[in-house]
Amino acid sequence: MPIPVILDCDPGHDDAIAILLAGASPELDVRGITTVAGNVSVDKTSKNALKICELAKLDRLKVYAGMSRPLVKDLLTAENVHGRSGLDGPELPEPKRTVEPRHAIDFLIDELLSSKEPVTLIPTAPLTNIAAALIREPRIRTSIQEIVMMGGAIAEGNTTPAAEFNIYVDPHAADVVFRSGVPIWMIGLDVTHQALVLPERLKKIRALGSPVSAAAADLMIFFQEHHRVKYGMEGPPLHDPCAVAAVIDRSIFRFKEMHVGIELEGRLTQGRTVCDLWNVTGNPPNAHVGLSVDAPRFFDLLISRLARYGKW
Ligand code: BDR
Ligand code: CA
Repeated sequence: MPIPVILDCDPGHDDAIAILLAGASPELDVRGITTVAGNVSVDKTSKNALKICELAKLDRLKVYAGMSRPLVKDLLTAENVHGRSGLDGPELPEPKRTVEPRHAIDFLIDELLSSKEPVTLIPTAPLTNIAAALIREPRIRTSIQEIVMMGGAIAEGNTTPAAEFNIYVDPHAADVVFRSGVPIWMIGLDVTHQALVLPERLKKIRALGSPVSAAAADLMIFFQEHHRVKYGMEGPPLHDPCAVAAVIDRSIFRFKEMHVGIELEGRLTQGRTVCDLWNVTGNPPNAHVGLSVDAPRFFDLLISRLARYGKW
């Protein structure tokens, strides 16, 4: 039985690859895509999700637009990483359809409460939609199988020295989610910075020879520049597809259970995922935190799935 999932995202170059990975994976039953403000405004992230579905002929995946700003803070976007559109680089097709009329929060609640089986949520963006849904309808808690998310880090930051982008943008939402009692699998920067699209991996993606693989390769080339200049990386990190891959095959990653607190106030540390690696607080664990990824296996999985899009 495929695992029912909802992708909650802010495409975003790596979110786009996460959609492509999920859309080609028979292990997953993607019930819908919800979008949120993050890398760019929610209007743009929604349009970008639709463009990726159009490119890959994923007509079955409906897109629901969600929250337009974080719960408390003003929105911070990441055009410096993803360009003005949020998906700069390749020429992507104009979507023939629009977002669904239902708001993402309504969709999340309706889908979770009506689903026969619990649903896994895969957020790869600020956690605003998930937190808002949990606040509006706490009964959804028991309908969520688990949350497998990209965000945070044990030991690094990419937006401040202390904080990763998805958590920094909406720490208050992250706090709601991490205190919700729902099982959480957190894949942070310590892991995703090991999943680099090295030149030979990029070559393999392009060599698949389809419009999807060409667009994926062009997305990676745009995404690479920021990471080369800023971090001296040999290729861009595929943050968000790691969360999808962890639902498909968790054995590709190593996790450790621990307590994670979200810093809301810190003068220098707002948005930090404070991971109690050695349980110094004695607090009960509330998350499985990613420690590492087997990058060759991750890319084998990704490339084999991108190959399914075929040449049309
Ligand atoms: C996260 O921030 C976004 O820019 C990426 O899409 C990813 O979800 C990495 O910090
Ligand atoms: Ca993202």
